Amino acid sequence: MHEVFAPGRVELLGNHTDYNSGVVLSAALDLGTTARGFRRDGTSIKLRSVGFPEVIVDAVTPSQPTGEWSDYPVGVIAKFIEAGYAVGGFEVDFSATLPVGAGLSSSASIEVATAVLLCKLFDFKIAPIDLARICKRAENEFAGVNCGILDQVSCVFGRRQQAIFLDCRDESVRRIPFPEGVELLIVHSGVKHALTGGEYNERREQCFEAARILGVAALRDASTADLIHPGLSEIVRKRAAHITGENERVFAGVDALSRGDLKEFGALLTASHASSMNNFENSTPELDILVRIATGLPGIYGARLTGGGFGGAIIALVASEHIDNEMVNILERFQNETGIKTAAYHCRIGDGARPDA
Ligand code: GLA
Repeated sequence: MHEVFAPGRVELLGNHTDYNSGVVLSAALDLGTTARGFRRDGTSIKLRSVGFPEVIVDAVTPSQPTGEWSDYPVGVIAKFIEAGYAVGGFEVDFSATLPVGAGLSSSASIEVATAVLLCKLFDFKIAPIDLARICKRAENEFAGVNCGILDQVSCVFGRRQQAIFLDCRDESVRRIPFPEGVELLIVHSGVKHALTGGEYNERREQCFEAARILGVAALRDASTADLIHPGLSEIVRKRAAHITGENERVFAGVDALSRGDLKEFGALLTASHASSMNNFENSTPELDILVRIATGLPGIYGARLTGGGFGGAIIALVASEHIDNEMVNILERFQNETGIKTAAYHCRIGDGARPDA
C-alpha cells in the first residue's frame, strides 16, 4: 500500500498570465488530496472517492472522458499509457481536504496525486517538471479544460513557507521565502467556479487576439505602455491591460516579498483584484464584496480573487495576530450583506508532491 498527498495551490499574484507566457507567484497549500493505492494482478484499475460510485477502467483499452470527477485521474492514467509507461492493474482510494470549486486547484491536486502514486506503484522515474506537464496534458486533452501550467507546477514544486515564482515561458521555478508574521486566509464566495464554462476560453482568445494585433508572440512581450495601439478594440485592450499589469505586479511582488514589505505586497493583491474587476471582468459581485469587506479590516494587508475567477474564493493576507478575529469578521459581514453563509480556510504554505520524494 502506498499513500501520497498532493496539495492544492493558491495563486498569490499573476492572474491568467500562465497561458500568456507570463510570470506567476503561487504557493502550495496544506490542504489537498490523499491517494492510497496498491497494485493488483491483471489490467483492471479501480478508482474510489468518498460519496461517488466506484469507477473501473482498463490499463490496456483506452478510456473516454465521462464528465465526472474521475476524468482527472483517468486522464492522467491515459496520458501515462500514451507516453509509453507500463501501467498495470491497481486500486486507489482518494480523499480530499480541499474545497471543490474554490479555485484552489482541486483538479490539479487529484491529477498530481494520481501521477505520484503511479510513480510509486510502478517505479516510474519522471522529472518533476515532466510530471507537471503530463498532468496538464491530462487536463487539457482528456478533461477538456484549456488551463495553463500554473496549477500543476504549484502542486509539484511547492515548499513549506515558500512562494513559487514561475516563469511560464521557460517553465523555470524559483522559490521565495514567505515572510513570517502573516497568514493566508481563503474565503469562499459561495459561488462555485468551473473552468469548463466558456468564459475562461473566451478570455484566452481575447488575450491571443491582443498579442496578434500587437505583433508579439505572447502578451508577456508587451508592456502596459504598448497598449495605446489603434488596432485594439476597447474590450481587447482591457483584457490585455490585465495581463501586462499582472506581469508587472508579479515582479513588484517578488521584490516586496524579498524585502518583507507586507504593506506593498498587500497593496499589489488589492490592485490585482481591481484589475480583475475592471479590465478582465472575471470577478463576481460576491468576490467584490468579500474583497471590499476584507480590505476594510485593520488586520488585513490586501485581498484579491484567486485562480480563474467567475466564482471561487478570495485570498486575504492577514497579520498573524488578527487571523482569528478577521476570519469571523469577514464571514459575519458577508452573511449580513449577502445572506450567504460561507466558509473560510486558514491555510499554511505546504510542500508539493514530488515523484522523487
Ligand atoms: C486557472 C487555470 C490556471 C490559470 C488560472 C488563472 O486556475 O487552471 O492555469 O490560468 O486559472 O491564473
